[in-house]
Amino acid sequence: MTINGSTQLFAIAGNPVHHSLSPVMHNTAFQALDYNGVYVPLHIIDIQAGVQGMRHLGFRGASITVPHKEAVLSLADEIDDTAKDIGAANTLVFTSADTGRSKVKAYNTDWIGSNRALEQHIALKGSSALVLGAGGAAKAVAYGLLRAGAEVTVCNRTQSKAEDLARSLRCNWISLQNLQSYTGDILINTTTVGMTPHTDQSPFPGEGLCRFQAVMDIVYAPLETRLLREARKQGCRTVDGLAMLLYQGVEQFRLWTGQEPPVQLMRQALITALPA
Ligand code: ATR
Repeated sequence: MTINGSTQLFAIAGNPVHHSLSPVMHNTAFQALDYNGVYVPLHIIDIQAGVQGMRHLGFRGASITVPHKEAVLSLADEIDDTAKDIGAANTLVFTSADTGRSKVKAYNTDWIGSNRALEQHIALKGSSALVLGAGGAAKAVAYGLLRAGAEVTVCNRTQSKAEDLARSLRCNWISLQNLQSYTGDILINTTTVGMTPHTDQSPFPGEGLCRFQAVMDIVYAPLETRLLREARKQGCRTVDGLAMLLYQGVEQFRLWTGQEPPVQLMRQALITALPA
């Protein structure tokens, strides 16, 4: 890759950001398509200053990650309707970047990533889905499912957050005590339970997994979490955490470049870059 005066700048802005796999995914795509762009991790503590800085430096696009996905909305000139509905953005597109008077539009591609990842394995319309967790990721996943015509129920350790999420998206919630009695087609873990180093943990009892047709975990370290391993053994279709990361990135790439991204190469780059 040659960086020159015409190179387009892209970044992931977050705190922390050093572990992010997005740079390897997007830079692989740029190289494969011979697109003159470079994507760098930016450790940003003050997102207002960060967005201002990217505007002035002529950035074309940015991924926004923890903890800035909600705060960034107030810094955009325009907000895509779905980002408004979810209340969070993970993508910025800067227009007129060369003129120094760039405009910023905020999007959310997390819900698209989650839907695409699941749709490879199961039809969403008319299905019933249980979402574990009630944070930002849960909201995007639940929004996507509802938009695809699924019936959604959320369950969270802190019940009041599940109730709030259910109220804002107009879906169902259940208490942890009633988790075992839930029956449905799809189970999605959006919590950090099972993530390295706590790989012996699972957010759902193994013996109950046979009730679901498909199980997705958004945790990708390890790639096969205890939840996915137990689900696979019980005959469920499983969707690993790289799938959502990949497809949200694929959609970002389309928004930034207008080009069709090399999806398989991007997934391979993610797998290669995963910590051992
Ligand atoms: P994100 O934006 O990635 O979704 P978040 O907003 O911090 O992150 O949400 C993390 C989710 O994981 C929350 O639903 C959290 O539950 P609480 O609302 O009770 O905090 C859930 N979570 C994290 N650690 C958990 C644990 N050990 N057991 C159960 N749920 C956990």
